[in-house]
Amino acid sequence: MTELNKLALKILENGKGILAADESTGTMTKRLQSVKIVSTAENRILFRETLFSSKEMKECIGGVILYDETIKQNASNGKNISKFISDIGSIAGIKVDTGAKQLAGSPDEKITEGLDGLRERLKEYSKLGAKFTKWRGVYNISDKYPSKLSIDTNAHALARYAALVQECNMVPIVEPEVLMDGDHSADDCFEKTSAVIKKCFEELILHKVDLSGVILKPNMILAGNDSKNQITNEETAKLTVKCLKESVPNEVPGIAFLSGGQTELQATENLNLINKFNDTNFIMSYSYGRALQQSALKHWAKDVKDIQGTQKVFDHRARMCTLAAQGKWSKELENN
Ligand code: G3H
Repeated sequence: MTELNKLALKILENGKGILAADESTGTMTKRLQSVKIVSTAENRILFRETLFSSKEMKECIGGVILYDETIKQNASNGKNISKFISDIGSIAGIKVDTGAKQLAGSPDEKITEGLDGLRERLKEYSKLGAKFTKWRGVYNISDKYPSKLSIDTNAHALARYAALVQECNMVPIVEPEVLMDGDHSADDCFEKTSAVIKKCFEELILHKVDLSGVILKPNMILAGNDSKNQITNEETAKLTVKCLKESVPNEVPGIAFLSGGQTELQATENLNLINKFNDTNFIMSYSYGRALQQSALKHWAKDVKDIQGTQKVFDHRARMCTLAAQGKWSKELENN
């Protein structure tokens, strides 16, 4: 067992998942503005520290993905934020891509940037305490998309990123996100997500990435937001497991889903069903942003001094997601 494999397993052990708190300042500003909070550096760390110091962090959250600004900030006790997270018993990670930009040659699609100078940035993040990283490729679905160009270029970038990250002894989260936007069917989502993931692994293998030291962060298989033919949660779970079983090599230790705009409840219930139907060796857990933070953010915005109340809301979400990662979640537990 390699050190990277041990680390990947540690992040996802015993139903633990990942808190994706890596919103860029632009995205975090939108989230804070939506609840009428001014987006200052102080408010951003205040909300995040409120989550990081909550009770269920130790048992439910194996890793926290940070943003560049946050990993350079200190907690209110003066500790560097990575140290603050590791003292709690979790592991700090860092988003290292610099965002999705218009893809030359196919301007309606995106290519994720950030490879230039990445080796040097990784060394800096490693010194700041990061043990794992994230890079998100993004794909939209329509009759002609994702194009071969988008699938190939994003897979190439994800593989170059993952190889550099492992060279620096960190675990790369490989995130190819096929978006929910649109009126496509779940079958389209299945077909296109499968093609995207298969190409990613083809490139990861070409770039000699140790697959046992990688965490895959995919979308679930869902019909588009505007589709009239929505599928049941059971169908989503079965299709998601089928897609991953057919597209992901066995060496990969763990899969941590993104929530991608699903409600907190939907993301939890789907993960629970995925684990009920999971007949693979992969750990199937979560790496949620919105589906872990939304209710806590709304609660906090009503009274930013109500730290305990906010933590209670977050703790419940984290516990429900961890139960779902073990296939032990139920509506009764959710409503208790
Ligand atoms: O890259 C996406 C985020 O890390 C996960 O966010 O769960 O809100 O989709 P989400």
